[in-house]
Amino acid sequence: MSLQCPPADWYKAPEGAEKMWIGLALVWCFVLSLMMPYWHFRGKQNSRGETYSVTPAAFRERVERFIADNKVGDRQGMPIAQPAPGGDAYLLASMWSWYPILKLQKGETYRIHMASADLNHGFSLQPLNMNFQVLPGYDHVLTLTPTSSGEFTIVCNEFCGIGHHMMIGKILVE
Ligand code: CUA
Repeated sequence: MSLQCPPADWYKAPEGAEKMWIGLALVWCFVLSLMMPYWHFRGKQNSRGETYSVTPAAFRERVERFIADNKVGDRQGMPIAQPAPGGDAYLLASMWSWYPILKLQKGETYRIHMASADLNHGFSLQPLNMNFQVLPGYDHVLTLTPTSSGEFTIVCNEFCGIGHHMMIGKILVE
């Protein structure tokens, strides 16, 4: 029976291969722990953690204003907005879309404001694999300089309900 006490002499100190694997696992734990601060300073895809509080309604208003001022087209009803180089761009996450499509220029730097209108979503830019949390109530500003051109897909990587798998957005870089 599983609730019975083990025999009094059950413990044996690890030896041989077991001891070696415990040692390797311990060393690997230290390596991974050190990689966290290392990439904080050396990584090229880190967020500065620049965030501001914003209500979902106020953020939606900024997004609409941004689109009205910068719209250059649309794709299947989704507006495409092209911010000025060096300027601000807005991206609204909500169940279940990324709004609008952003059109950026390679080599230019942008401030991308991201917030959610409802619940926690995950911004995951593919195929580069850049990942950030998108929360309601917080304007998270990413300072971003595209280094390659093409069409990039944003997928949501936080489960956000029945349409989660359809929550796909686009960033176009030319
Ligand atoms: Cu949004 Cu999953």
